[in-house]
Amino acid sequence: MRIACIGGGPASLYASLLFRQALPEAEITVYERNREGETFGWGVVFSDETLGHFMQADPVTSDEISKAFVHWTAIDTWLRGTWVRSNGHGFSGLGRRRLLAILGARCKALGVRMVFDREVPSPQELAATHDLVLGSDGVQSMVRQAYAGHFRPDVRMGTARFTWLGSTLPLEAFTFIFQETPHGLFTVHAYPFEPGLATFIVECNESTWTRAGMEAADEAATARFMEGVFAEHLRGHRLLTNRSIWRRFPTVRCAAWHHQNVVLLGDAAHTAHFSIGSGTKLAMEDAIALVAAFRAHGTRDIPAALAAYEASRRRDVDRLQRAARVSQAWFEEADRYVAQAPHAFVFNLMTRSQRITYANLRTRDAVLVDEVARRYAPASSAAAPAPAPGTAGPRPPALVPLALRGITLPNRIVVSPMCQYSAREGVPGDWHLVHLGSRAVGGAGLVMAEATAVAADGRITHGCTGLWDDAQEAAWARIVGFIHGHGASKAGIQLAHAGRKASWGLPWEGDRPLADASAWPTLGPTAEPFAPGQPAPRAMTRADMEAVRAQFVASARRAARAGFDVLEVHAAHGYLLSSFLSPASNTRTDAYGGSLERRMAFPLEVVRAVREAWPQDRPLFVRISASDWLEGEPGMTCEDAVVLARALAAAGCDVVDVSSGGNVPRGRIEYGRMYQVPFADRIRHDAGVKVMAVGGIPDVDHANTVLAAERADLVAIARGHLLNPYLTLQAAGVARDPAFAWPRPYAPARPS
Ligand SMILES: Cc1cc2nc3c(=O)[nH]c(=O)nc-3n(C[C@H](O)[C@H](O)[C@H](O)COP(=O)(O)OP(=O)(O)OC[C@H]3O[C@@H](n4cnc5c(N)ncnc54)[C@H](O)[C@@H]3O)c2cc1C
Ligand SMILES: Cc1cc2nc3c(=O)[nH]c(=O)nc-3n(C[C@H](O)[C@H](O)[C@H](O)COP(=O)(O)O)c2cc1C
Repeated sequence: MRIACIGGGPASLYASLLFRQALPEAEITVYERNREGETFGWGVVFSDETLGHFMQADPVTSDEISKAFVHWTAIDTWLRGTWVRSNGHGFSGLGRRRLLAILGARCKALGVRMVFDREVPSPQELAATHDLVLGSDGVQSMVRQAYAGHFRPDVRMGTARFTWLGSTLPLEAFTFIFQETPHGLFTVHAYPFEPGLATFIVECNESTWTRAGMEAADEAATARFMEGVFAEHLRGHRLLTNRSIWRRFPTVRCAAWHHQNVVLLGDAAHTAHFSIGSGTKLAMEDAIALVAAFRAHGTRDIPAALAAYEASRRRDVDRLQRAARVSQAWFEEADRYVAQAPHAFVFNLMTRSQRITYANLRTRDAVLVDEVARRYAPASSAAAPAPAPGTAGPRPPALVPLALRGITLPNRIVVSPMCQYSAREGVPGDWHLVHLGSRAVGGAGLVMAEATAVAADGRITHGCTGLWDDAQEAAWARIVGFIHGHGASKAGIQLAHAGRKASWGLPWEGDRPLADASAWPTLGPTAEPFAPGQPAPRAMTRADMEAVRAQFVASARRAARAGFDVLEVHAAHGYLLSSFLSPASNTRTDAYGGSLERRMAFPLEVVRAVREAWPQDRPLFVRISASDWLEGEPGMTCEDAVVLARALAAAGCDVVDVSSGGNVPRGRIEYGRMYQVPFADRIRHDAGVKVMAVGGIPDVDHANTVLAAERADLVAIARGHLLNPYLTLQAAGVARDPAFAWPRPYAPARPS
């Protein structure tokens, strides 16, 4: 077996030394373009968990690496002259040079042939003369390029500029510095990796970079300039350079990582933004997986072993890249958050990649998280008795009340509106009473009833609820009476018109447009159907708009009489108002189509009219789709949603409920944990409005995370509530929140 490894970075060296042990007969050669000991960069970081993997794979190098470590458990953050320390994080750093020396020495001891100062011009020749070629040639990978047709790389450049500097500053913790200057915000990611040496990465956005004159600055000029910017933190220490040029971070992804006998490893195959400190870890874990695949499959069928390697790594790498993308975006837009109070800011920073929740962070650092919670609701915390030692801590953010106009929601968990398709003639029945009633018993601060049509032709299906006649109003009043009569939950209702998505079959009867005699004519901004081949709606005339507006107003009045505390206008998911908002569905050429302002005109008219009809002391929510998830064609974007949110607030909307998608079938929604929260976060900060986050928020712990980081003011949970109506009650039990109003009959279960 002959193996050629292109590149002398961590992926290549680690794979080589592991291969030598797994396949002692193999002849392994490493080709590195640089001279021995010559490399870029400063330190690398590993978590305690990664070290465990190294220990299993090769205890000899793991021991050497451990001996070289600087270990720390704290993360320090500096913001506007305030310092906040978070403890309980286990990390280790060492110099990249040192790491490569350890791996290189072990390779040599095991008989790996090391060829330095040798540029491999193309992989084909090696592929013809070797059984296996490792494309471990880093982020600029020539191997990836040579087989681009097979690997199908996708490389996206980040928007921020960064440079990887070193410093003699003695640090005892991972250190973030957010420094506002007249040029803009500069962010530092710094960590110790050898006694007296630290990595000091400086990052800023493009305009700050240009304003600061960094475009023309060489390495030395950059270092001197940054010594000025961070003088207070550096306390006379110098910044050091080692190919410390300004770059933008490239996120590399490849559709395939192997072709015949050539395989990509490490940065050549995938990169993860440095803010989650995982590039070297990923490279070395690739090496472990590659060699394990050969151990399992033998060397006879190399493509099979390579396929097994790729299959074993995909999920972890995808997960990490997703977290890295979110983290990268956070830093690229850190300006948005620097106005936060320091503790909330630090919590936001710690939980940015959505991998760490409130509860996770609290197990590491209860002092920080409890301080965040105390500051979240100083007034209510002051009223609450001190928590029992070693138990719950202060009241978690999800259980903190929220006052909106004359209504106070007892906590911030909302049952998201969910169609039940179980009404007759629009009248909610016993199913709705039990469904909504049990969720109120379960303690959610607000129980929002499903999309309820303002007119018969505005229903999605024959099974949808309505609020256009007295029977419906009376049935809703019975449900609201139950909710108000058995706990502290407030009752909300979502008013909707399904527009061109109306006249649909029940989900369990085909989930497609009705095609029989029970179908009815639908309305839309234009005569274009939701999907090709479906029945076309009628393009609305001005008279239609006035009629629909009047229907919303009449239903709002009925909702007020039925006793609802909160009203939500449904302007999301491609239903009537949503289809007006998006350029993907609204191509009208009159005053109601074209620019965003015109597309918003009719939905805003409805919201204003509803606001006037809805009692002034009760809050109004509007659900929007903040993105159509379309690329390369006109569609609703988060920038549009920020403008929309401001306009909604001016029209009297108290909370923007931030959902997404549903407007056109070709939108490619990237589902995942908390996948819509970044939209809510952005709208909240950029438009300065209260928002409700929804989507992939499975439980109260995640809700606490979103709230404590100030990404939203309320959290709606849909499917999580179908699985467990008692989410809030349980959370109150765990938190032993003395202020939580338990339903009287359940009081015996209340933990004391
Ligand atoms: C600013 C910054 C900070 C980072 N911080 C961290 C961190 O804290 N922790 C962490 O784990 N990772 C960090 N990384 C990422 C880390 O450096 C990489 O993810 C890691 O080095 C990937 O290892 P690799 O072996 O795949 O590639 P590399 O380490 O890039 O090695 C590739 C090698 O191939 C050689 N080469 C390339 N082409 C050829 C050729 N044609 N012929 C011969 N030789 C060739 C190169 O000279 C290089 O030595 C950071 C990266 C940057 C840019
Ligand atoms: C059964 C079901 C019915 C739904 N009906 C509605 C609805 O009537 N109105 C609405 O705005 N969203 C509706 N949704 C979307 C949810 O309110 C929520 O936004 C979405 O499910 C994402 O939240 P989750 O990940 O917590 O489930 C529905 C979702 C489900 C699962």
